[in-house]
Amino acid sequence: MDLELTGHTALVIGGSSGIGAATAEVLAEEGCDVAVTYRRSVGGAQRTAARVRELARRAWVLPLDLRSPDSVTRAAEELSASVGPLGVVVVSAGHNVITPFERIGAPEWREVIEVNLTGAFLAVQAIAPLIRPGGAIVTVASVAAHTGAPHHMHYAAAKAGLVNLTRSLARELAPDIRVNCVAPGITLTRMGQDTADSLAADYATTSLLLQRFAQPRRIAQTIAVVASPVAEYMTGATIDVNSGRFPR
Ligand SMILES: NC(=O)c1ccc[n+]([C@@H]2O[C@H](COP(=O)([O-])OP(=O)(O)OC[C@H]3O[C@@H](n4cnc5c(N)ncnc54)[C@H](OP(=O)(O)O)[C@@H]3O)[C@@H](O)[C@H]2O)c1
Repeated sequence: MDLELTGHTALVIGGSSGIGAATAEVLAEEGCDVAVTYRRSVGGAQRTAARVRELARRAWVLPLDLRSPDSVTRAAEELSASVGPLGVVVVSAGHNVITPFERIGAPEWREVIEVNLTGAFLAVQAIAPLIRPGGAIVTVASVAAHTGAPHHMHYAAAKAGLVNLTRSLARELAPDIRVNCVAPGITLTRMGQDTADSLAADYATTSLLLQRFAQPRRIAQTIAVVASPVAEYMTGATIDVNSGRFPR
């Protein structure tokens, strides 16, 4: 199936690692030029950009810290000046901390909400004017948005907010821009490994219908399909990719 993405320009926020890096690569395979952002891992972002260039597509690397409105504004200005109109924006960046209920302090609570929810809002608000009509935004939430998560309830709350924010953005930006969400289960990235390490060793085989954690590339391929013109009639949706952890 041709995803009809050839010649589009994509932005992957959080393209320096994990699902974001895999998404940048898949989008490049599908014919997109790709801009990737990083917070700390400039090396990771450069490795992602190198993979995009190996696929004979253009790549850009820029810093963006979702905790900082100034950083978001600067990134939007740089995108406008150097990259041009965007066809696809993926908000993959996220921040998770495993902390028991009793020990979550106000600063940690605020930071997790800030990165996963407030930052996603500010980024889409700043970057939406750069998206050409017919373009698409994909946010990345989590199965925790549906299940709740006792040892990272700030993260689960933020991701539940992101699912709802996605619906509001879809209403706001229609009919020109589609906005959808992909909500993965535990995926074998840096963040996913931390989560897996906090669970019983037999968690995947006993709690997941497909008895295994997700590969980042599979989540990335789902994001690419949702972002592509093939999904032109889909907006405001949240796609669960969670091994049946929360069928709904
Ligand atoms: N892996 C899982 O099990 C899983 C499950 C459900 C949902 N998710 C979601 O999937 C998305 C990608 O996660 P991942 O598994 O790929 O994790 P990851 O490998 O740890 O990557 C996280 C990404 O977020 C970026 N980031 C972190 N804080 C940021 C900030 N303040 N501003 C801007 N960027 C920031 C990181 O940038 P730097 O490295 O450059 O600092 C990195 O690119 C996240 O939204 C996560 O919540 C993951």
